[in-house]
Amino acid sequence: MAHAPVPVLTIDGPSGSGKGTISRLVADQLGWRMLDSGALYRAVGYAAGAAGIDLSDVDAVTRCAQTVKIRFQPSQDGGETHVLVNGHDATDELRTETAGAAASAIAVIPSVRQALVDLQLAFRKAPGLVADGRDMGTVIFPDAPFKVFLTASAAERAKRRYKQLKDKGLSVTLAGLQREIEARDERDASRPVAPLKPATGAVVIDTTGMPIEAVVAKVFAVVRP
Ligand code: DC
Repeated sequence: MAHAPVPVLTIDGPSGSGKGTISRLVADQLGWRMLDSGALYRAVGYAAGAAGIDLSDVDAVTRCAQTVKIRFQPSQDGGETHVLVNGHDATDELRTETAGAAASAIAVIPSVRQALVDLQLAFRKAPGLVADGRDMGTVIFPDAPFKVFLTASAAERAKRRYKQLKDKGLSVTLAGLQREIEARDERDASRPVAPLKPATGAVVIDTTGMPIEAVVAKVFAVVRP
């Protein structure tokens, strides 16, 4: 008898829509694994930068994506997961807006996206996977039984990022963040390969003004109706 495929909940959406927070909470409650696919693109951008590679050099960035060693290290005390890039703990560097912009820039390269496919598929292990990104439901796990697309106004997303970054002691301005978010949305949504858009059948949730618990409840209703 064929085994039932491991269930996947895909949570796609633009930066600041709450995907990371919501994915983590839902994955913990379900006892499922989690894939933060944005961290992979951030790691490639970071590794390329660290190696002095020009991000517009498609061949060099592709080689970097094919060879980079990315390891997720869950914390022992329930805190945040650390990301090791070629053996270096790059957790803090990967969080910055610079890393986000670099990730968005290299994410338009089809061969870079291709280099990360198997790595992402390998996260699908029992009892289930929550996959957070831009193309989880459209490209990487098109057969996922549960698909969600989270969104929120650019102003609200900028406010959330502002608070997150301020809390981490980073120096940013709200207006600057909103501009960066809008530029990144535009690039992520307009690229020809795997653009940011809701997958067919995805439940779209606009989280503007919604408390986290309410969003979690809505996402949960998709998996356990
Ligand atoms: O989710 P994030 O902000 O960490 O993602 C950073 C960038 O990586 C995002 O602007 C576009 C890219 N990305 C992507 O192209 N596909 C994904 N599945 C995840 C992220």
